[in-house]
Amino acid sequence: MNKRIPFIAGNWKMYKDCNQAVETIKTLLELAFEVEDADIMIAPSFTSLYPVGKILKDSNVKLGAQSICYQKEGAFTGEISASMLLSCGCLYVIIGHSERREIFNETDENINKKINAAINAGLIPILCIGESEAQRDAGDTFKILDKQIELGLKDFFTEDLNNLIIAYEPIWAIGTGKTATDEQAQEVHKFIREEIEAKFGKSLAESIRILYGGSVKPANIKQLMDMPDIDGTLVGGASLDAKTFSEIIKYK
Ligand code: PGA
Repeated sequence: MNKRIPFIAGNWKMYKDCNQAVETIKTLLELAFEVEDADIMIAPSFTSLYPVGKILKDSNVKLGAQSICYQKEGAFTGEISASMLLSCGCLYVIIGHSERREIFNETDENINKKINAAINAGLIPILCIGESEAQRDAGDTFKILDKQIELGLKDFFTEDLNNLIIAYEPIWAIGTGKTATDEQAQEVHKFIREEIEAKFGKSLAESIRILYGGSVKPANIKQLMDMPDIDGTLVGGASLDAKTFSEIIKYK
């Protein structure tokens, strides 16, 4: 099997104004500049992308956005396009985070269009999928994930998805302190890889990076990363503090 490079990502959600974002990123760079064996990404709020992007330029920490508009440009008040993200230095974009699905009514169809917009512009999409506690309790986890993958990646060809990253984020584990056990996460990651193989072939299934997200912290990252199908993590709360996040980055 291909050796997949670990991918450690921080999602700052709606925390930190520009000054706080700049301060945190400067500290993080000091703490994590020597890390070379993992891809690292930080996704600050839209308003901090430009100043943070300037600081990260030419560093080992890459810039990501938390969402994107699927339209190229036009009269879409409040939206942010792919080219705007690129001009701030973004390389990645998180798409379909459960908070956007649940609170802002993002649908799988919308998410599919956003992935298309990102890929067309040369941004690397991080597609988030995950089940709620009620869905897990009802035994529907795999059914839900299958639907999110099927509709989110509808009409793409394998060659479109070479850079795609998937983040499995069980909703019941996000911001709750309740992490999925290593075995629970591994079981789902294996399922996702099998789904990708069935839909897009073995080669993509072996190379695609599947991240785990949901209450990742310095104390649990190592065990999660030891699982064969967990290739990285998407970290919310624990990415807000530079020192804590640098400990996660240096989990080895
Ligand atoms: P959390 O968030 O680490 O605070 O649980 C993860 C996420 O929502 O990406």
